Amino acid sequence: MKTEHVKAESTAARELIARFSDHSATIGVIGLGYVGLPLAVVLAKSGYRVVGVDTSEEKINLLNEGKSYVEDVPSEDVADLLERGLFSATTDIHALDEVDGASICVPTPLRKTGDPDLSYIISATQSLKQALHAPMVIILESTTYPGTTREMVLPELESTGLKVGVDVFLAFSPERVDPGREDWTTVNTPKVIGGITPDCTMTACAMYGSAMETIVPVSSTEVAEMTKLLENTFRAVNIGLVNEMALMCDRLGLDVWEVIDAAGTKPFGFMKFTPGPGLGGHCIPIDPLYLSWKLKSVKYTARFIELASEINTNMPRVVVQRLQDALNEHEKAIKGSRILIVGTAYKPDISDLRESPALDVIGMLWEKGAHLSYYDPYVSEISHEGWNLRSIPDLLAGARKADAVVIITNHSDLDYAGLAEQSSLILDTRNAMKAAGITGDKIVRL
Ligand SMILES: NC(=O)c1ccc[n+]([C@@H]2O[C@H](COP(=O)([O-])OP(=O)(O)OC[C@H]3O[C@@H](n4cnc5c(N)ncnc54)[C@H](O)[C@@H]3O)[C@@H](O)[C@H]2O)c1
Repeated sequence: MKTEHVKAESTAARELIARFSDHSATIGVIGLGYVGLPLAVVLAKSGYRVVGVDTSEEKINLLNEGKSYVEDVPSEDVADLLERGLFSATTDIHALDEVDGASICVPTPLRKTGDPDLSYIISATQSLKQALHAPMVIILESTTYPGTTREMVLPELESTGLKVGVDVFLAFSPERVDPGREDWTTVNTPKVIGGITPDCTMTACAMYGSAMETIVPVSSTEVAEMTKLLENTFRAVNIGLVNEMALMCDRLGLDVWEVIDAAGTKPFGFMKFTPGPGLGGHCIPIDPLYLSWKLKSVKYTARFIELASEINTNMPRVVVQRLQDALNEHEKAIKGSRILIVGTAYKPDISDLRESPALDVIGMLWEKGAHLSYYDPYVSEISHEGWNLRSIPDLLAGARKADAVVIITNHSDLDYAGLAEQSSLILDTRNAMKAAGITGDKIVRL
C-alpha cells in the first residue's frame, strides 16, 4: 500500500507511519500459533525486525532452534530470519518494550457452556500493558464478536494512563489465513483493518501496508470484527445448507454429489459447497457462535447461525448412523466390528485436529463398542476425552483387516485405488473415491 497520501493528525501517528514506510520499525507478535507465526514471518520477510512472544516455552525453544511447527511456514524461513537478525522469539513480554507495533494473535475458543472465552485476549492485553509505551500501534487479530476491541482491549490499554488515538493506536484486523493454502497467503489475501480513530486505522494500515499487497481500511473496529464473522458465518450456513441437502437427497433416494456437480455447472449465482462429516477447525464451527452470543445480549436470535450449527454438529451422528446401516447390509453390528478411520485432521493435507469431526465420530463408535483404528499420515497420535490411539503404519494392511473403512478426511496423497482393492466396505463422507475416479458397490457415500 502507498502511504504517501496518508495524513495522520497526530505527530505520534506520523512518526510511526514514517518508520513503517521505511521499514525501520520493530514489530511484536503476541501468540505464535497458526496465525501469529505466519504473520511474524511475513512481517520479518518484508524487512521489519520482528519479536515473537508466546507463553509456550516449547514453541519458543523450537523457533530459536530454527524449527517451525506450522505447516505453512518452512523451518528454513525461520532459520534464515533468525540468522539475519530479522526475527527472534521469547516468552518475555518486555522484549516489546521498544517496538513500534504489536499484533495480538491469541486463541478465542468457546467455553464448555458455548460462551466466548476471551480470557486469552484479556491476559495477552494485560501482559502487553507491561510493555506499552508511546508511540505504538496495537492490532488485534483474534476472531471475536463486534465490540471486543473497544470494550475489552481499549480500557485495559488506557488503564496505563496512555490515551488511545493520541499516544497509542488500536485497531482490529481479522486474520483470513486458510492453513495449507498456497494461492492465497498472508501476503496476498486483502487485509481488512478498522481502527478506533482515523489515526489508529492509518497507523495500522501503514504497518501492514508495507508488508502485504492489499489493505482494505474500514470505518471502525466493529466493522472489521463483523467482516470476519460474516465471512465465517457465510461458510457455516452454506455448509449447513448443503449438509441438509445431503439428508434430503438421502430421503429422496438421490445422489447429492451428482446434484451438486450439476448445479456447479451454472456459471453464475451458485457457489459450490460440499457436504461432509461435520465442521472442523478453529474458525467455522466456533466464530459464528461468537456472533450469536453477542446478539443474545441485544435480544436477537441469530436464526441462520443456530440452525446451521444444529445441522452441522449433528453430522458426525449421521455418519455413525450411515455406518450402522451399511454394516447392517453386511449382517454386522458396529459393536465388535473392526472400523478403520481414514483421515482425522479437520481438512485435507494438514495435521490440525481442532474441532475435527473425526474426534466425534471416533468417540461415538468407541461408545458403541467398535474396535477402532485410524490412519492419518499427518497425525501420529490422538488423545481425546479418555481415549488414545496411534495411527496405524500401513493403510492397506489396516483396510484388509477392517470390516469397514470410514473416510473422514480426503488427504490428497492417499492410495485410494489400493483402499478400494483391499477394503470390504467403505463409507466415504467426502466423495474422495469418486474424485479419485473410483466407483463400486462397496463404496457408500454420504
Ligand atoms: N487457525 C486459523 O486458521 C485461523 C484463521 C483465521 C483466524 N484465526 C483466529 O486467530 C486467532 C489465533 O488462532 P491460532 O489458530 O493462531 O491459535 P493457536 O492456538 O495456534 O495459537 C495461539 C498461540 O497463542 C499463544 N498464547 C496464548 N496466550 C498467550 C499470551 N497471553 N501471550 C502470548 N502468547 C499466548 C499460545 O501459546 C499459542 O501458541 C484465533 O482467534 C482464531 O480464531 C485462526
